[in-house]
Amino acid sequence: MRIAYADPPYIGQARKHYQCEEVDHHQLIDRLAGDYDAWLLSASAPSLPSLTTYLDSLKVSYRVAVWVKPFAAFKVNVNPAYAWEPVLFGGGRPFVRYQPTVRDWLAESMTLRKGLCGAKPPRFCRWIFSLVNAEPSDELTDLFPGTGIVGREWASWDGSPEIGGAPVALKHRSISLREATHNSRVARWLDLPAAEIRPPGVSLDERDARAVVPDKEAL
Ligand SMILES: C[S@@+](CC[C@H](N)C(=O)[O-])C[C@H]1O[C@@H](n2cnc3c(N)ncnc32)[C@H](O)[C@@H]1O
Repeated sequence: MRIAYADPPYIGQARKHYQCEEVDHHQLIDRLAGDYDAWLLSASAPSLPSLTTYLDSLKVSYRVAVWVKPFAAFKVNVNPAYAWEPVLFGGGRPFVRYQPTVRDWLAESMTLRKGLCGAKPPRFCRWIFSLVNAEPSDELTDLFPGTGIVGREWASWDGSPEIGGAPVALKHRSISLREATHNSRVARWLDLPAAEIRPPGVSLDERDARAVVPDKEAL
């Protein structure tokens, strides 16, 4: 499968952040949707309507996934902050039933001190590979490499899916429907996300490796 990832300067930001010409996003989308079996396009939240309008006009099949940044840049006089980014994607390898379900959202903080505005975190890279059900034997073209992190993550990726969501929710053992129902009831009582429920005495670091079912005695 031929995959392309495009992380261009976001619309209206080329000069400010990269001292370069604006990228023609219509041409870019034509190229992504026309030349590749799978494609992913990072964008800014404000540019989403114009990008989806163009994609709709092409009658291209695509989806929008969301990168939420728990830690994001707060700018003076920008309130609410822009703390998420869309990733538009299309094509890809069909998933089969035994595969883990990949979320269409990822919570992962922005990178710092990478020397380039907009450098993506490694977990983000593995998540976008997983969105299109890539395999390491596929061919990935990173059209706007920047720091080169996407290419490096691709080169070292063993094909393990990064299923997205929040980091704490990823490694829980599978639980029965009964446990899950109990968990979500307890979460509602305590006004917490279900993934935050953990047995007493289990630290935040440990909880990935431990059962999420709370000890009823402790409640
Ligand atoms: C958002 S950054 C990419 C960040 C990259 N994905 C990373 O994680 O490090 C966009 C990059 O594209 C570069 N760029 C701008 N115009 C370009 C063009 N026409 N072709 C290739 N790269 C371009 C910018 O200089 C910048 O390094």
